[in-house]
Amino acid sequence: MSDEATVRADDRAHVFHSWSAQGLIDPMPIAEARGSHFWDYAGKRYLDFSSQLVNVNIGHQHPRLVAAIQEQAGKLCTVAPSFANDKRGEAARLIAELAPGDLNRVFFTNGGAEANENAIRMARIHTGRHKVLAMYRSYHGSTAAAISATGDPRRWANEPTAIGLVHFWGPYPYRSAFHAADETQESERALAHLRDTIAFEGPGTIAAVLLETVVGTNGILVPPPGYLAGVRAICDEYGIVLIADEVMAGFGRCGEWFAVDHWRVTPDLITFAKGVNSGYLPLGGVVISDPIAETFRERVFPGGLTYSGHPLACASAVASIQIFKEEGIIEHARMLGEEVIGPALREVAQRHPSVGEVRGLGVFWALELVRDQETREPLVPYNAAGPAAAPMNELAAACKQRGVWPFTHFNRVHVVPPCTITADEVAEGIAVLDEALTLADAHCT
Ligand SMILES: Cc1ncc(COP(=O)(O)O)c(C=O)c1O
Repeated sequence: MSDEATVRADDRAHVFHSWSAQGLIDPMPIAEARGSHFWDYAGKRYLDFSSQLVNVNIGHQHPRLVAAIQEQAGKLCTVAPSFANDKRGEAARLIAELAPGDLNRVFFTNGGAEANENAIRMARIHTGRHKVLAMYRSYHGSTAAAISATGDPRRWANEPTAIGLVHFWGPYPYRSAFHAADETQESERALAHLRDTIAFEGPGTIAAVLLETVVGTNGILVPPPGYLAGVRAICDEYGIVLIADEVMAGFGRCGEWFAVDHWRVTPDLITFAKGVNSGYLPLGGVVISDPIAETFRERVFPGGLTYSGHPLACASAVASIQIFKEEGIIEHARMLGEEVIGPALREVAQRHPSVGEVRGLGVFWALELVRDQETREPLVPYNAAGPAAAPMNELAAACKQRGVWPFTHFNRVHVVPPCTITADEVAEGIAVLDEALTLADAHCT
């Protein structure tokens, strides 16, 4: 293994990093990782409360998953997508068996953005319409249509974007765009707003509604009762394709195989990536309903990727799904949410004036931090940077200093460890967060 100085020097001289001003970053070299932890070169251990980019659902270096990849590498590393391949077929079958309703086919990609890109392409050709409605407060990836669909500041610097992407407000009871008094009202009013948006955009122009089943990076916004079923009904009424982006929410994160299972709603297309194989190899895809697949029975699907259905990536998905089943990881994630993480965070919240709301499910939780619980003024402004973001940066630094790697975004801390984390490890991480939150409390008015 290289020494830390070499890793740093090569990185600084030659690696061009995502979403960064290259001269203003100092990426920490990681020496190794195992289970819920990773280590730096000084041997300092971090509890990964972020699952890297909320994708290492199975934990780091799961021995059976590593072995399955090694075994496949010894057999067949790559074949072109035009051939049939055992692991690709098996991965597609396993995913289709897990998916709800008539979602029986899988188009594989290398990640989440490409999955959304191709889902939009399918919906447009299937309906013969061009517009896609997506939410403010969303992230769908950084390729052309995916970043155009994105409803957060990452889109701004990419504008002008693809045409035909229209944004609407989703439900967010804590900061309701509809002045709703409770979840029921929020659900009803958000549905009425979607219906109005469709009426004014022209129902006959809209190919798809694209939404994150549970909004991830933009706040862990769990849809209120009735919302997803209501969106499904509206889409049915107007012949609009419903695309559920489960790149972050799927494969255990919400305590379900697919997050939609929690509400028993069947979309027309589900996009996935991250948790499908915990990022051990790049993999994503679109699960496709029978009617949409039928559109492409006699008609060519105009999209493809050299690595669509890559055997090594697909072998890792097959192994990961088997491990999830045999080790009861979905059930464990659900239990963590109901019995461990949710109760512990609610208890912590009682001690801290800076915690405005605790929300989530499974292993997908957010603490929304405020300066004042009454006014709900965010601890830092929307999209804060530089000195304005200091209170959140202090909090993150305090967690890291105490050996917990947090996920922070705007005025929130997300608690998103691997789905395999133990209750003791959760307690260890939340105890650190509890201490660090006193720094946020100091900013309360
Ligand atoms: C909900 C959602 N969709 C899409 C993406 C994009 O996935 P990728 O980075 O694999 O392209 C992400 C990534 O964080 C995501 O959270």
